[in-house]
Amino acid sequence: MKGVETDFSRKMSYTDYLGLDTLLAAQKPLTGQHDENLFIIIHQVQELWMKLMNTEIGLALSCLRVDDLRPAFKALARVSRIQRQMVEAWDVLSTMTPADYLSFRDSLGSSSGFQSWQYRLLEIRLGARDSFMLKPHQHRADLSAILNESFHAPSLYDEALRLLARRGLPIPAHVLERDLATPYEADEGVVAAWGVIYRESAAYFDLYEMAEELVDLEDSFLQWRFRHMTTVERIIGQRMGTGGSAGVGYLKQALERRFFPELWTVRGRL
Ligand code: HEM
Repeated sequence: MKGVETDFSRKMSYTDYLGLDTLLAAQKPLTGQHDENLFIIIHQVQELWMKLMNTEIGLALSCLRVDDLRPAFKALARVSRIQRQMVEAWDVLSTMTPADYLSFRDSLGSSSGFQSWQYRLLEIRLGARDSFMLKPHQHRADLSAILNESFHAPSLYDEALRLLARRGLPIPAHVLERDLATPYEADEGVVAAWGVIYRESAAYFDLYEMAEELVDLEDSFLQWRFRHMTTVERIIGQRMGTGGSAGVGYLKQALERRFFPELWTVRGRL
């Protein structure tokens, strides 16, 4: 075709720019089993989306800190679209039968999504605090440093509550001054503050919008957890996980976790 570049001996090509040689060489199945490739790729794709989510949440955090709400909302909207992709991805994995999985499961050894540091970073940045999240990464000083930094810093929810306080909403001092490295505990004062925003939404429209963006994010996170749990149940039933947990039982419990608890409580109080 005339005008189309075809000589890349001295110019950057698509393959060069995207690092495709590295990316496409990163699937290293340990068995010759057909489905192992799907298993590896689905994890890698989700890890890539998590990388982008972490970047966007990092941006949202720094924007909220300086009251720059519009770019924060834009970043959170992008996170929501990514989450949709991640939830849909379970459909591809569910074409793998229990027998397909068992054909290569032993080769995984003790590796498990339990050790996904990017997933833990996301959870930590959203507000989760539990020292078990840091333990599998103790042998990696670089990863531990990244996780520890966020573990001791304000989460997205902490920043949201600080913003509410700056806007004159009565967030209790013990919530604002809490030890950031400990689990967040739901507080009636915070429920009341969100209640004001929902009842007087016209006066607090941007905070109201933020509240709904946070609920969207948590809702999608829960959908991801739920589809992970059901996909795992159809593939391994009640078998233990390769990471050593009870398996589906553990994943069901994880559905009870909430990053933004008062935003759920307030819905029943309006
Ligand atoms: C055949 C497919 C899969 C099975 C059987 C499976 C099974 C499990 C099990 C049993 C756990 C609990 C920990 C353990 O004991 O290992 C777990 C945790 C986890 N898995 Fe998967 N999984 C699968 C696919 C995936 C995929 C595609 C991802 C995407 C990255 C993923 C990410 C995670 C994460 C992040 C956790 C930690 C969850 C938490 O602690 O709340 N898993 N998985």
